[in-house]
Amino acid sequence: MPQAAYVIDQMISAKSIAARIEDLAHEIRTSFEGTDKLVVVGLLRGSFVFIADLVRELDLPVEVDFLEASSYGDGMTSSREVRILKDLRGEIGGRDVLLVEDIVDTGFTLHHVTRLLQTRQPRRLETIALLDKPSRREVDITATWTGFTIPDEFVVGYGIDYAQRDRNLPYIGKVRFTGD
Ligand code: IMP
Ligand code: MG
Repeated sequence: MPQAAYVIDQMISAKSIAARIEDLAHEIRTSFEGTDKLVVVGLLRGSFVFIADLVRELDLPVEVDFLEASSYGDGMTSSREVRILKDLRGEIGGRDVLLVEDIVDTGFTLHHVTRLLQTRQPRRLETIALLDKPSRREVDITATWTGFTIPDEFVVGYGIDYAQRDRNLPYIGKVRFTGD
């Protein structure tokens, strides 16, 4: 099926994102001060740009691992069922862990993945989401740290896709359909 035509209106500039990440990295560093190692877990694929920028601002001993969970299909609607498509490579038992998510929307993904990771008994598990759409929430969950709270718009860029497109935009933009 051909995709409907759309344009992307910039919502958060690359510069604002970078500035916010500097602040978040500072808070995280303070919070995990003294850790022997922080395992930073990126939720694929949407968090790959965010995690890359975040760890480079993080002045702590870090390890990076990835986990892939499915929630959206190829469209714009969320599904309640969350499946693990790719699990972590490393063990997190007894470790300090930071889970990195691109967007918290209904909250199902973050809820499910944090519950799964808790069963592995990390010493401490915190979460960070670049974006939060609280108006869409169906599960009562909030990330420990949030980059930006945004309205109920479908966004792309900075790692986030619409049907696998637009992940390479350096900024966050909202999708606007043009009707042709
Ligand atoms: P949740 O399980 O409904 O909270 O969905 C979280 C996941 O849905 C995020 O990790 C994103 O991959 C995806 N998602 C939610 N909102 C958007 C959006 O506006 N654009 C692109 N992907 C989104
Ligand atoms: Mg996604």
